[in-house]
Amino acid sequence: MDRASRLVDAVQRLSLARDLEGVAAVVREAARGLTGADGATLILREGELCHYVDEDAIGPLWKGRRFPIERCVGGWVMKNGAPVVIEDIFDDARVAVEVFKPTFVKSLAIVPIRTTSPVGAIGNYWSAPHRATDDEVRIIQALADSTSVALENLRLYEELERRVVELDRAVQARDAFIAVASHALKTPLTPLALQVESALALLHGRGDGSALAAKLASKLESASRQIDRLGLLVGNLLDLTHIAFDCKGARDAVSLRAIVADVVERSRPLSERLGAPVTVVDGADVVGHWNRLRIELAVENVLSNALKFGEGKPVTIAIDHHHEVAELFVRDRGIGIAREHQLRIFEQFERAVPTSHHGGLGLGLWVTRKIVEEHGGAIRVDSDNGKGSTFTLELPLAQRAHEAP
Ligand SMILES: Nc1ncnc2c1ncn2[C@@H]1O[C@H](COP(=O)(O)OP(=O)(O)O)[C@@H](O)[C@H]1O
Ligand SMILES: [Mg+2]
Repeated sequence: MDRASRLVDAVQRLSLARDLEGVAAVVREAARGLTGADGATLILREGELCHYVDEDAIGPLWKGRRFPIERCVGGWVMKNGAPVVIEDIFDDARVAVEVFKPTFVKSLAIVPIRTTSPVGAIGNYWSAPHRATDDEVRIIQALADSTSVALENLRLYEELERRVVELDRAVQARDAFIAVASHALKTPLTPLALQVESALALLHGRGDGSALAAKLASKLESASRQIDRLGLLVGNLLDLTHIAFDCKGARDAVSLRAIVADVVERSRPLSERLGAPVTVVDGADVVGHWNRLRIELAVENVLSNALKFGEGKPVTIAIDHHHEVAELFVRDRGIGIAREHQLRIFEQFERAVPTSHHGGLGLGLWVTRKIVEEHGGAIRVDSDNGKGSTFTLELPLAQRAHEAP
């Protein structure tokens, strides 16, 4: 190989090196090959020391040793940011002769890695007196420049790896926190809902028909709706931590129309308050082999969005099926979703509106997608800014053979 091809080859290999050993292996071999020297070293600066990291030579040099920067030629090169060429090492004040005596070296050329505040140097050594030519110096300087880029890449790469590890830890801490918090929130919710329900039942059963009783009942009903809302939020949060997936297994033959009717009934107080009627379009029913609670949660999430973002306009729900796949369409005429957000909103914590408006955690659609996918189905949206949105849930009617029961 000629010099140019050797250099190109070394530069390419340097760009692929992912650790210091990799860089050192390319440098020691290429440096010697490029000049035909009898030895080459890679020296790195460590504070006030020169570290002879690696070498390739006809006899041992200083691999693994460290010298004070003031007492070695490599140090001089790093301090001055300039190459040095020495034909007779015993006749140059910059050379610490006792270090060279045990070696074969008679002549040398050393170039800095990076000329401004050098991070290291590359040395070439000859066993017979030799004055390194300008061409030789230039070509190892070119190698040193590529080495500097490779070392900088290593640093960035390590930094990146460190950040990824940190990020992983942060995400784990977040998940652990949400798991604990949502579980703690969920626990008192069920007895609370029961208490409110039984208080309502008491009032209805034994109420004296007084104005006070009516007022109490209306307050308790409103409390019960708030508990339902809290239940939906906490339910979505729990899904984030996979705790709620334990009900995933139980599947029965369930009617989509019945599920929709239930969910619509439960959302009535909200739709009345917003003045947005929810209509279920007439049509055939479809019965699928699903987990009822999970599908209810999915429908509830999509319907609550249609109401929340629907600007008080009517919401329409339609049920259909073709080729053994049920389809549920939930259409609103509200604020709509710009194209660039339409994929993102199905991810955790992703919202297309600022948190200050329409409060929410940005988990509903993510949970819905998970539920639909665990049933072998899919969810998609058809929308545009200001044009309203139609969410479509596709659910295979039968359990597929490869799905766990
Ligand atoms: N029917 C809809 N109309 C307009 N935007 C919607 C609709 N449904 C969902 N979005 C957008 O998708 C985002 C994510 O929805 P979701 O996961 O349910 O979170 P959340 O309801 O807590 O904001 C919402 O914040 C909103 O920006
Ligand atoms: Mg939502």
